[in-house]
Amino acid sequence: MSSNNIDFAAQCIKDGKVVAFPTETVYGLGANALNPLAVTKIFELKERPSFDPLIVHIADLNQLDELISSPDERVYKLASEFWPGPLTIILKKSKLVPDVVTSGLPTVGIRMPNHSVALELIQKSDCPIAAPSANKFGKISPTTANHVKKSLSNADYILDAGKTTVGIESTIIKLTESGFKILRNGVITKEELEKVLPFDSEPIVEDLAAPGMLKSHYSPKKTFLIANQSTLAIDKSKAGLLSFTGHLDNGFKKVIKMSQNNELREYAVNMFEAMHAFEDDDTIEIIIAEPVKEEGIGIAIMEKLKKAAYNWQGM
Ligand code: TXA
Ligand code: MG
Repeated sequence: MSSNNIDFAAQCIKDGKVVAFPTETVYGLGANALNPLAVTKIFELKERPSFDPLIVHIADLNQLDELISSPDERVYKLASEFWPGPLTIILKKSKLVPDVVTSGLPTVGIRMPNHSVALELIQKSDCPIAAPSANKFGKISPTTANHVKKSLSNADYILDAGKTTVGIESTIIKLTESGFKILRNGVITKEELEKVLPFDSEPIVEDLAAPGMLKSHYSPKKTFLIANQSTLAIDKSKAGLLSFTGHLDNGFKKVIKMSQNNELREYAVNMFEAMHAFEDDDTIEIIIAEPVKEEGIGIAIMEKLKKAAYNWQGM
């Protein structure tokens, strides 16, 4: 079932059901974060391995305090700068957070989404909402309710509020003694974060094997390649291009422009939607994406493109 009824969606969350809902980044598949049974349903529906923990979404800072074990001044500094917004902070969890949410880790990822519908849903549900992106594990992230329906039509409810405005997942950081480390890149960049806290350049060791840092992710079901000399040498008559500069457009069966004005922000907004469109298009067999410079938001875009292409390397 899909529509825009926030009250109904909130009642579903209260009843321990699973609801897909919009955030500014991508659609999430949410359940009451404090109800382990409800959270288990997310893993089942998404076919997500139980070792991959979920982000907990809050609507105000009072909810933060009960979820973490030791308050840290720096979190409030980050919150005042970046929340609500696409930043997830990994913090030591309190006993209130069920282990199923964090896959048994002593930490929990928390963010306050910058989307009025998401915030209202959390408030009306009267609980923090645990939610991964609303796609089957490893597949393309959803930026519209229709993308959610493609793979998770069995969610109890899909709350539809149109296309998301950021388009790629939140930046994930972890606080260390000396500052912060980035676990996943997003539109909030290292440079912006450094205005609030120093960047800790020590390489990340311990958690890396665990959560979500898998090499393959966001992956279309069709061959997906990043444009370079060799991939561009293929027969393009059945290939679709995610185009940025326009320089590579010639010869492709179909081209989807990521941005009208060469803006990386727009590439992020449109990237997953274009992957879905080509995945659903019977005339397209191969999807190729134009790479961008790995600077600023370009780092997050390239991170996603490389993971999406990972399984198709050497094709
Ligand atoms: O923008 C977003 O972050 C979206 C929207 C729905 O909020 N959510 C999202 O969730 O991208 P998901 O589950 O697709 O990705 C969350 C990532 C996973 O890679 C997970 O491993 C990592 O966050 N994560 C969650 N809790 C963690 C923890 N305690 N320690 C380390 N990584 C964690
Ligand atoms: Mg995801």
